[in-house]
Amino acid sequence: MNFKKLGETDLNVSRIGIGTWAMGGRWQWGWGRQQDSDSIETIHQALTQGVNWLDTAPVYGLGHSEEVVGKALSDIPASERPMVFTKCGFNWNGQGDVTPSLTARSIREEIEASLKRLCVETIDLYQIHWPNPESELEEAWATLSELKQEGKIRYAGVSNFSVEQMQRISPIMPIDSLQPNYSLIHRDVETHVLPYCDMHDMGVLAYSPMGSGLLTGKMTRTRIEALPEDDWRREAPAFNEPQLSVNLAIVQVLEGISSNYGVSCAAAAIAWTFAHPALSAAIVGMRTPDQVQALVTAGSLQLKDEDIEALNLASMEPAASEGE
Ligand SMILES: NC(=O)c1ccc[n+]([C@@H]2O[C@H](COP(=O)([O-])OP(=O)(O)OC[C@H]3O[C@@H](n4cnc5c(N)ncnc54)[C@H](OP(=O)(O)O)[C@@H]3O)[C@@H](O)[C@H]2O)c1
Repeated sequence: MNFKKLGETDLNVSRIGIGTWAMGGRWQWGWGRQQDSDSIETIHQALTQGVNWLDTAPVYGLGHSEEVVGKALSDIPASERPMVFTKCGFNWNGQGDVTPSLTARSIREEIEASLKRLCVETIDLYQIHWPNPESELEEAWATLSELKQEGKIRYAGVSNFSVEQMQRISPIMPIDSLQPNYSLIHRDVETHVLPYCDMHDMGVLAYSPMGSGLLTGKMTRTRIEALPEDDWRREAPAFNEPQLSVNLAIVQVLEGISSNYGVSCAAAAIAWTFAHPALSAAIVGMRTPDQVQALVTAGSLQLKDEDIEALNLASMEPAASEGE
């Protein structure tokens, strides 16, 4: 497993981290059935293979993903625990209706609930999940600055922010990291966002590096048709025409390249993201222990320039870079 310093922080992160969205189980943006025992074993398995951090959020499963992470961590001696990254920015009611909020009061309530669910005293990286409501960005960032001074969080980052939004808040406190959607099927951040992060020595954690499963080589048309009703991917544009054909064509190129290295298609898709100089690491979603091995090989995989170029070309078809 290779490691990289996260921007100007003192966090030395493994090149892949554990993504825990699907571990939240069933909710509005769930991934169908997910067993907690599988989630916990998956986390333990990935840590054994050298991964040293995980990413979660209160909203994943309306608190459930953080609870599962808390349970997984409680089985591990404190000295061997991974770094824990989580987020703020969404509230929900008893009916499961989710609303965005970035007020100081809301964030302070959220962090106390997260610390409790995660069973930790400090969060290593606390991120604003989405820049929404946009009018509350300065208030939110000033609150994260206070939380840092109070020692509740070690570092503060943002997710899904544009350059303009980062420019707005950075005078309040420098931004430690950005979490953007970045993969062979989502390359739009290459134009402005990643160069901005590179120029400002920010850490960058790419999310959905395998396009939420599309680039693993295991996602066929037949499997998409059979996805459970409560798997959000069923309705996602990337998993439906006209984008699906473009995306599956990229997978074909990935399959050819990954076989030359003797690695999974998933690992090659993740390793492609590392070719961008701004990238610190990738957040890789995993659901079952048997998925881990095929993913962690990406942590030490370096693709040849000619293969990166072939993948760049394959992913430049017009529909491939359109956001969802
Ligand atoms: N900040 C944000 O707004 C934001 C948004 C999205 C994600 N994230 C973070 O980024 C993480 C990763 O993103 P993601 O989960 O959307 O997508 P991803 O990492 O691109 O794909 C994850 C999915 O790929 C499939 N998979 C995993 N290993 C596999 C293997 N070995 N073989 C075949 N399929 C495999 C699994 O789903 P199946 O087995 O069901 O196919 C898994 O859930 C999330 O968990 C979350 O922590 C953040």
